[in-house]
Amino acid sequence: MAATGWFETVAEAQRRAQKRLPPSVYSALVAGSEKGVTVGDNLSAFSEIGFAPHVAGLSAKRDMATTIMGQSLSMPVLISPTGVQAVHPDGEVAVARAAAARGTAIGLSSFASKSVEEVAAANPQTFFQMYWTGGRDRLLARMERARRAGAVGLIITTDWSFSSGRDWGSPAIPEKMDLRAMLRFAPEGLRRPRWLAEFAKAGKIPDLTAPNLADGGEAPTFFGAYGEWMQTPLPTWEDIGWLREQWGGPFMLKGVMRVDDAKRAVDAGVSAISVSNHGGNNLDGTPAPIRALPAIADAVGDQIEIVLDGGIRRGSDVVKAVALGARAVMIGRAYLWGLAAGGQSGVENVLDILRGGIDSALLGLGLSSIDELRAADLVIPDGFRRDLGA
Ligand SMILES: Cc1cc2nc3c(=O)[nH]c(=O)nc-3n(C[C@H](O)[C@H](O)[C@H](O)COP(=O)(O)O)c2cc1C
Repeated sequence: MAATGWFETVAEAQRRAQKRLPPSVYSALVAGSEKGVTVGDNLSAFSEIGFAPHVAGLSAKRDMATTIMGQSLSMPVLISPTGVQAVHPDGEVAVARAAAARGTAIGLSSFASKSVEEVAAANPQTFFQMYWTGGRDRLLARMERARRAGAVGLIITTDWSFSSGRDWGSPAIPEKMDLRAMLRFAPEGLRRPRWLAEFAKAGKIPDLTAPNLADGGEAPTFFGAYGEWMQTPLPTWEDIGWLREQWGGPFMLKGVMRVDDAKRAVDAGVSAISVSNHGGNNLDGTPAPIRALPAIADAVGDQIEIVLDGGIRRGSDVVKAVALGARAVMIGRAYLWGLAAGGQSGVENVLDILRGGIDSALLGLGLSSIDELRAADLVIPDGFRRDLGA
């Protein structure tokens, strides 16, 4: 067994994360807004889809390499942007290294705990993710900083609806890790000695700031950054087209759930969309992305690249998404559990689990490549699809 402790499924990584992380950090990752209808559907929708495997004449070789936004990936899985404050002292740098070691790309959140310079140095396949915050001048400055750092694509996420309540209670997040906050959170930290030891070993405390929003000055606190975002006038489709033009390179709009929005994204000139409901952290009652994917793929799949994120926990989920029209998937919580459980090697472990699961599903289906996957390879119950905005 590896020093950090190999695990065999993402569910096991999640159990270890729960044991290792202070409860408020763990529950910030579980997240899910309001009643949790959407976060629940993101997972259960995958369970509704089945397979009908073959028994002989199977393919000895299975190919799963692909490209997204001009980047070659060893498999159709990349890292979705998340602000991973306080999960691990190496944060997104560990995630970036793990993704690079496994031949895939990372989406880096502008709310991340590590700078785009450090992350792009750790993984040349870095896409920088922005929310519409601060207005055009600030967005441009942050985008140019990411370009200088070596980011090879831009992701803009505009699906956020500032929904804040959760029936099971939101964790208290301190404005800043000052002495008062440390004393308040000390009992939680002391109950999680391994988590505390990781930070102590690195000589760091979780500082809860957003260095990619520093704009040449001091990095704002998470809440300072959130406040700026809330006060920024909401973007129009023209704004999205404008930002795409300013960037001039591979550009993804993340959070699309409707066919009409997917068509407008095509008109705005984007190179890719992610069919996503923000991992169920947003407008509760939104269906799982895997239900919305087929109609969107039918409508725009031949014009732009389609990625899906939300609910991916195993390789067979990836295969289901690709069979229904996604070119690749992005993972969120799956790698966060891996990061909490084992740092960089925990994230590598998660990526290996997904790779192994994709390979098993292709083998069982008698296919030699992800390019051969079709909806007919799946068992899909009546009424599964949700054709939103068609
Ligand atoms: C803790 C957490 C933080 C997130 N932060 C961001 C973010 O900063 N930017 C963004 O575009 N999406 C963010 N997301 C959404 C993810 O990129 C992704 O859409 C979602 O996690 C996918 O669902 P999954 O966790 O079931 O894989 C976040 C999700 C979680 C769980």
